[in-house]
Amino acid sequence: MRIDIISVVPDLIRSPFEHSILQRAKDKGLLEVHLHNLREYGINNYRQVDDYQYGGGAGMVLMVEPIDNCISALKAKRDYDEVIYTSPDGDLLDQSMANRLSLLNNIIVLCGHYKGVDERVRIHLITKEISIGNYVLSGGELAAAVIVDSIGRLIPGVLNNETSALEDSFQDQLIAPPVYTRPVEYKGWKVPDVLSSGHEAKIREWRMDESLKRTKERRPELFD
Ligand code: ADE
Repeated sequence: MRIDIISVVPDLIRSPFEHSILQRAKDKGLLEVHLHNLREYGINNYRQVDDYQYGGGAGMVLMVEPIDNCISALKAKRDYDEVIYTSPDGDLLDQSMANRLSLLNNIIVLCGHYKGVDERVRIHLITKEISIGNYVLSGGELAAAVIVDSIGRLIPGVLNNETSALEDSFQDQLIAPPVYTRPVEYKGWKVPDVLSSGHEAKIREWRMDESLKRTKERRPELFD
């Protein structure tokens, strides 16, 4: 899968793609992440990318031309399945959306910034708008990093058996059960006996019970 991220501050999100599971996905040749600085597509001698909004009002708006130029340059080289825009009023990202996106080949993620983008970008160039939650970030970069992380780890072949996504919270509409590691007792705080019993069937049953209990307590809406 190839993900092209367009931003006015690409350096803000270089690091999340250079560690851990996403780096491993890149090393395995399963994921490519390319960051593009919108400024390189800016217009006039100042490489301008934003301007005041028509009708007045505070805040700068990203202009349509630099974004169109950048997206067109990418589209000239390959086909894209989705052109995503990060925005607090987009569709809420959840595990099933991440699952679906992880099966695509090429996507573009345009990060919003300042007051947002000229509406003509959203009308003519964007195919999907995604929000990572009902709060407002200073820009779409952190949202893009969250989206890419949630998708990248699900690309078939990225996770091995040990880190399988199948047991993640939400993957089956359930919250994952609690986990413990050594020591078996610390300050009198004990690991549940069943986990160190070696009895696989009982451990499976305990984990399922805990998952159901947690989901009922913490995310009752997942039961609906
Ligand atoms: N840009 C600003 N806030 C955002 C959010 N909550 N989700 C996605 N993009 C955003």
